[in-house]
Amino acid sequence: RRIIVFISGNGSNLQAIIDAIQSGTLECKIDLVVSSKKTAYGLTRAEKAGIPTLVFPLKPYQDAGKTRIEYDVDLANKVKEYNPDLIVLAGWMLILSKEFINHFNDNIINLHPALPGQFDGVNAIQHAYEAFKRGEITKTGVMVHKVIPEVDKGEPLIIEEVPIFESDTLETLEERIHSVEHKVIVQSIKKFLQI
Ligand code: GRF
Repeated sequence: RRIIVFISGNGSNLQAIIDAIQSGTLECKIDLVVSSKKTAYGLTRAEKAGIPTLVFPLKPYQDAGKTRIEYDVDLANKVKEYNPDLIVLAGWMLILSKEFINHFNDNIINLHPALPGQFDGVNAIQHAYEAFKRGEITKTGVMVHKVIPEVDKGEPLIIEEVPIFESDTLETLEERIHSVEHKVIVQSIKKFLQI
């Protein structure tokens, strides 16, 4: 089974997938890593693992006065050539429109570092930490969900709660959440592909 992983930054979740494949616990192949940023360290991780990469930034479209839809359609056409069984958004920081999503009929999953409906969008961990400090929540979590046009709202595939402690700093909470993500992202791919 073949997957394509989308990243925008560090790529520690991409690395978790690479490691799981190399250790034999995840039997699939990463055909391509797509990054929205040419500076993403995840590109280095892909190159080291011998995985082809595609850097596809939005800025040139914006500078050329092109629309977001044109970006999504061009990206979809490039990715369709690979005919992936699954697209994994692992730290992909752009919102993909239906013009992209509809090309891959539900075969897209997204990793999000919060519980369903808790903190949608960016900086979810920081928002959870601040809510905890205000006494509004006692725990947060990680989820991988199917991607639909409404941001972070698709049907969850896996949800794992993550406790927050009084002694936590934002950094210790981030560390705990990322270590859970690295496990959940691999479990989600296995579950989706039924491998
Ligand atoms: C992860 O926390 C992911 O949930 C969020 O962005 C972060 C990406 O981390 N969308 P990395 O690039 O995989 O290290």
